[in-house]
Amino acid sequence: MKLRVNGLEFSYENKKILDQMDFFVKEGEFVSLLGPSGSGKSTILKILTGVLMPQQGQIMADDRQIYGVTELFAYMPQNDLLFPWKTILENVCLYGYVHGSLEEVRREAKENFSLFGLAGYEDRYPSELSGGMRQRAAFLRTALCRADILLLDEPFGALDVITRGEMQDWLIHMRKRLNKTVILVTHDMDEAIYLSDRILILNESPARITGEIVIEEKQRDRQWLYGQGELRKEIHRRIMGES
Ligand SMILES: Nc1ncnc2c1ncn2[C@@H]1O[C@H](COP(=O)(O)OP(=O)(O)O)[C@@H](O)[C@H]1O
Ligand SMILES: [Mg+2]
Repeated sequence: MKLRVNGLEFSYENKKILDQMDFFVKEGEFVSLLGPSGSGKSTILKILTGVLMPQQGQIMADDRQIYGVTELFAYMPQNDLLFPWKTILENVCLYGYVHGSLEEVRREAKENFSLFGLAGYEDRYPSELSGGMRQRAAFLRTALCRADILLLDEPFGALDVITRGEMQDWLIHMRKRLNKTVILVTHDMDEAIYLSDRILILNESPARITGEIVIEEKQRDRQWLYGQGELRKEIHRRIMGES
């Protein structure tokens, strides 16, 4: 087991956000946390990264208990958070600077610039790029990180629907190469179905996991996705708290 969360609870002031949350993620698995806006998805990722501290409960990574900031996670926050005074290439290689493998990260980054639709923008600054391009640069930076577990908070949320689809296709192809455990936060049902090995469904206030859906299909494409009407209905029922 890569990650196990037991009895996690979190409140902002008097408002309980997470209530007795339990889940696990296996090594190499792609798990989505799917729930409505405001249900506490970003809060869960912030607790995993150590940005927020849990008030109750336990987080185990392999056999080690996690508390606070660790080297286990590469985190892509909901807002892209590129440094405005650094070029796109410098931003993308940021973790390379931090971890001391700069040459390797630069090479890998440059190889991926065109795949991310960023070719020619290596030496530009974030303010010169569209919102979608900034999001892709932030995603590239996260994907190049050496950490074992990628935490992606609505990574394609700011993109138009076409670019978003392209990035999802790209992510499916990259998965084997990345060889990482991924936790994706999304409120987009189709995105979760398309990308995940397993979907954990959250309801609202305080959030609990109301269902789990395993998706076995290995050969996924848009045609397959369009045929998943039954799965969509079932997920909808669970989000609404029906059993
Ligand atoms: N810093 C904060 N202070 C108080 N309430 C917050 C804060 N951040 C988020 N919340 C509230 O916590 C709830 C869950 O937020 P969040 O985890 O961002 O949800 P999601 O990512 O699922 O949209 C929301 O109702 C939000 O308004
Ligand atoms: Mg959020």
